[in-house]
Amino acid sequence: MSHLDPTRLPRWQTLTERAKDLPHLADLLDADPDRFDRFRIDAPQMRLDLSRQRWDADIRGQLVALAEDAGIDATRKTLFKANTFNPTEGRAVLHTALRASVEGSIDVDGTDAVAAVHAALDRMRTLADAVRDGTWRGATGKAIRDVVNIGIGGSFLGPAMVSAALGDSDRPNVHFLANIDGMEAARLLPALDPTRTLFIIASKSFGTLETRTNALTVRSWLLERGVAPAELRKHFVAISTNIAAAAEFGLPEENLLPLWDWVGGRYSVTSTIGLPIAIGHGFAAFERLLAGARAMDEHFRDAPLAANAPVLLALAELWNQNFLGTESHAVLPYATALDLLPDYLQQLEMESNGKSVRRDGSPVTTRTGTILWGNVGTNGQHAYHQLLHQGTAPFSAQFILPQAAGHHFDHHHDWLAAHCFAQAEVFARGRSAADVQAELEASGMNPQAAAAAAPHRAMAGNHPSTMLLLDDLGPESLGALIALHEHKVFVQGMIWGINSFDQWGVELGKVLGTTIHDALTDAGGGAGVADTTTRALIALFRSRSG
Ligand code: F6P
Repeated sequence: MSHLDPTRLPRWQTLTERAKDLPHLADLLDADPDRFDRFRIDAPQMRLDLSRQRWDADIRGQLVALAEDAGIDATRKTLFKANTFNPTEGRAVLHTALRASVEGSIDVDGTDAVAAVHAALDRMRTLADAVRDGTWRGATGKAIRDVVNIGIGGSFLGPAMVSAALGDSDRPNVHFLANIDGMEAARLLPALDPTRTLFIIASKSFGTLETRTNALTVRSWLLERGVAPAELRKHFVAISTNIAAAAEFGLPEENLLPLWDWVGGRYSVTSTIGLPIAIGHGFAAFERLLAGARAMDEHFRDAPLAANAPVLLALAELWNQNFLGTESHAVLPYATALDLLPDYLQQLEMESNGKSVRRDGSPVTTRTGTILWGNVGTNGQHAYHQLLHQGTAPFSAQFILPQAAGHHFDHHHDWLAAHCFAQAEVFARGRSAADVQAELEASGMNPQAAAAAAPHRAMAGNHPSTMLLLDDLGPESLGALIALHEHKVFVQGMIWGINSFDQWGVELGKVLGTTIHDALTDAGGGAGVADTTTRALIALFRSRSG
């Protein structure tokens, strides 16, 4: 048996037993009037209510002990030092160094990672300031009005999520070009003045097809619109670990911000990849984002496991998924500004922990990763919440509500909060058919009709959820929210015994995509493709008109 198998830990069996015959969440809530205080966790920039998880103090204690047995106390500290957490890519995992204070130092292969980060931050500040104050000039000497981040996955979702959360950019407009679907470029480019647009090529590898294709399309677009080849450098900067590939694209080194192997793409929003945030909202806002993340890092590193927000969030969802059998996790921000948060967390959680083997190559025997989805409340209430309330698929949810509205329509915010709290209450308690029937009868319906109607209106409840009250939508809060989830993913991955930091699963599709593209575009029309369905699809696709 692999020593990384969590089911060999004695607590796993204890918890399996505890999951049987667990009372309904409504009963758990009613049995303990102090439950809210008992399950409330305060962390930087936020307060978490875990009282609507389907657990009691004993189960929580067992889960914390499980985390201890899995070595979380030591490994969380190692996340702040040189480590070998990503052996299948031969890389350290050090996103915490991205927001470490300048006095720190972490040696990675003879280089101080913290010093490298601070040197890069200085360059990032200079660049962001120059674009914002108009010192950076385009080919015809005009200041930059629009900035387009070309990148995908971690080189897109983090900066896009934070930029959207912070609201309209106060200087250049910031746009994102991610998809290889030409529709994105086709819709974006006509609105831009080539002489006043700066493109950021954000790609850790500088090899991602979507990003390279969009970058080449944009370069042609600039050239076609009269920007001289020698002036292109005034319209491109890049962020990458791959200096050679960026140079090959024609970018001088001074237009290149560094990134490091020890930052995973989905963990990179607090790195130089955050440049669109610094340009759109100012470097000071970016520093505040880092400060919020740092505060959560310190909480994660230092707080006892039993009072540690990322640890308890991780354990609650592990409990839901591995012991109570939830099938998906809904992230429901009650904040339109956080509309991209579910997308961002989808990559963070699903690309990190969607793994079938443990770090030693042995197959996992528990469900890993989480099918995460979601959208802003209250919109979802008028769409898919029907399934959540009366469907049959078990799920858990995370509500996120900023306490400060961030606008002056206060009465809207009260309604928003009220609906957020109402949904969480209904998820937990549901409504029995007997209660519905009694209510209908009390309202004058005859007992037979009431009995017939009741099952259609009853709701099982018993759906666990976390309520996360965020201070506001400011950069510190966003930084803390990001780090909270990064560390949650880390804790779960460590308990499952998997490597949360590689993503080999996405590679085969990329390779096959290239083979199929070659077949699809050559005159043979897919003759070299082995799979008969793919070959038929190529033929059908090529038969399109237009
Ligand atoms: O294909 C997956 C992936 O490698 C992600 O992990 C990454 O965030 C994204 O592609 C973009 O990669 P890059 O920044 O190297 O272009």
